[in-house]
Amino acid sequence: MATSEVHLLPYSLMEINVSGIVYLVGAGPGDPELITLKALRLIRTCDALVHDALIPLDIIKEAGPKCEVYDVGKRAGCKSFEQANINSLLLDLSKKGKNVVRLKGGDPFVFSRGGEEVAFLEKNNIDIEIVPGVTSGIAAPSYFGIPLSHRDGASSITFVTGHEQIDKKETMVNWQKLAKSTDSFVIYMGIKNIQSIVNELIAGGMDSNTLCAVIQEATLRNQKCLTTKLSNLVDTINEKNFQPPSIIIIGKIVGFQVKNYITKLSNVNLPSSLNKN
Ligand SMILES: C[S@@+](CC[C@H](N)C(=O)[O-])C[C@H]1O[C@@H](n2cnc3c(N)ncnc32)[C@H](O)[C@@H]1O
Repeated sequence: MATSEVHLLPYSLMEINVSGIVYLVGAGPGDPELITLKALRLIRTCDALVHDALIPLDIIKEAGPKCEVYDVGKRAGCKSFEQANINSLLLDLSKKGKNVVRLKGGDPFVFSRGGEEVAFLEKNNIDIEIVPGVTSGIAAPSYFGIPLSHRDGASSITFVTGHEQIDKKETMVNWQKLAKSTDSFVIYMGIKNIQSIVNELIAGGMDSNTLCAVIQEATLRNQKCLTTKLSNLVDTINEKNFQPPSIIIIGKIVGFQVKNYITKLSNVNLPSSLNKN
């Protein structure tokens, strides 16, 4: 098999000599204090900011007065921008010599199409830097005291999208197989399909008494979390009206929950009625 070696460019040289860089940046899960210093510096200094929906205004407001700001996220009742249009916008801005921050919620490489955008830009010879962010699948359990692993019996964790239609012809996620092969799940975008996900997990042999947690708007003013058993998960989500954006955790780790009383909660809200995945 062929091997390949990757060398990073000397960073400072690149920043001085090259314009038209696209920075693919993670904004973290919501609370502006959870953004990285690097992300903040780039947002404050970029010429153009192209951002997704789940980014609180407090973060967008950090852009400089001359920065061009493009909101390519979803709008209530409207479709999000086509991916091809976002790619063209990034290419265009970069070719004009602008330094661009492409800002995505959480981490840009976790269920965010970050890989697609970078591949497109690389094909077009655009210089790119990728800046990781705190993904919601890690922040949400932390804020409610659920450790992602535990030496006493939670050694594996699977990050998985619940957005796929289970009855679609070629599903990528085999829930029945996963039911027996991991200690715990962190499910992104799972609210809409939760009934079929639970059915599949139980059909795959998961105990209906398995503990679960559902966490909405983690790290933000309106965050909420409930824990229950797998057999009650769908009713809990419906009765308590959990909405996207929510993370659902299923498995052993929920049993290791500790209290986390003193985390300072952000006062920030998500922009209203945006993400309906
Ligand atoms: C398109 S995915 C983007 C994930 C993002 N790249 C990340 O790393 O967190 C959107 C999903 O992330 C989850 N999510 C994002 N922010 C969240 C938050 N503050 N609280 C709970 N879930 C969140 C929800 O499952 C939401 O439907």
